[in-house]
Amino acid sequence: MVMTIYWEGGQVMMLDQSLLPVETVYIECRDFQTVADGIRRLKIRGAPAIGIAAAMGLALGAAEIDAEDHDSFIKKLLPVRDALLATRPTAVNIQWAMERMFALLSINRELPVGELKSLLADESQKILDEDIRINRAIGEVGASFIHDGDTVLTHCNAGSLATGGYGTATAAIRVAVEQGKRIKVVADETRPVLQGARLTAWELMQDGIDVTLISDTAAGSLMQHGEIDLAIVGTDRTTRNGDVANKIGTYQVAVLCKENGIPFYVAAPLSSIDFTMADGSLIPIEERPADEVTDVFGKVKIAPEGVKVRNPAFDVTPHRYVTALFTEKGAYRPKDLWRLSGSANLSVTDSALAPFRVDSVKKTGI
Ligand code: MRU
Repeated sequence: MVMTIYWEGGQVMMLDQSLLPVETVYIECRDFQTVADGIRRLKIRGAPAIGIAAAMGLALGAAEIDAEDHDSFIKKLLPVRDALLATRPTAVNIQWAMERMFALLSINRELPVGELKSLLADESQKILDEDIRINRAIGEVGASFIHDGDTVLTHCNAGSLATGGYGTATAAIRVAVEQGKRIKVVADETRPVLQGARLTAWELMQDGIDVTLISDTAAGSLMQHGEIDLAIVGTDRTTRNGDVANKIGTYQVAVLCKENGIPFYVAAPLSSIDFTMADGSLIPIEERPADEVTDVFGKVKIAPEGVKVRNPAFDVTPHRYVTALFTEKGAYRPKDLWRLSGSANLSVTDSALAPFRVDSVKKTGI
């Protein structure tokens, strides 16, 4: 499996996803500005992956700081954190990663600055390693909702490229395939940046998984003709009530699923759930440059010069359309998601959560 991001000799190697599937090129990031620029320009993208990148970027920024004591170190690190936080507003994972890194500094305030810098680099590696383990756990949960012979629709890329590895939505598919189930995937192309066409189709083909690419506009027709059994997508930020922000176009997939009696699942690591936010109306939605819509990769114009454009990068699917969410702690209905708050630090035990887990969902009667 191709590595999205990793440490090598004190620098961060970032796969440039904006060039995929044509070229496989890694950017050598020696400073946090290169990492921040890579996140902003979608060279690395996908909520968990940008959280990991931001953690590594913070460690790179920390390494350059000249400070004698804890307080002056923190003072100089805060602008680095803020620069990383400002790159992309919708995914909660950057915020999650920054909070985790700063919490570590705060509990180790007695350590010399040199050791704090190493702690940050080690923690960013830990976040990467954990992410892969969490994805695998999400995959085990999600796979039990996929039956032999199913065709799964997915939108955008919630695959290994969007994470430390293995993916979230695609983890469920990967585990189901490993279990010997015959699974077909339908990937929405995902206009305007084409993460479905360029990334999901590419990575599934690399793994030998049966994938068919469709234009976004074809999804409803395929559902209407019985060609889709379930949909699984990722999320950039899911709020406490189960409202799901994900790539633009996800909302229409969810509505079409409901209309056609098809389960709509969301693969959501706890790092992408914002338990502090009450509902999806509060999620900041990133508006991206107009040329993503008017041009194909800055090369071919497909709209008249000067046309007015809106380019929201994400939408919010209200929780009533979500059949269940796959997390590393099991599958939950949106109404029970709040029960997981605090479970990352083990204040909620697995046995306390057990009665609220969902084990299976039938195709009809959602
Ligand atoms: O703009 P992107 O490519 O970063 O958007 C990514 C998505 O919307 C993914 O579906 C989401 O981050 C979940 S990735 C596991």
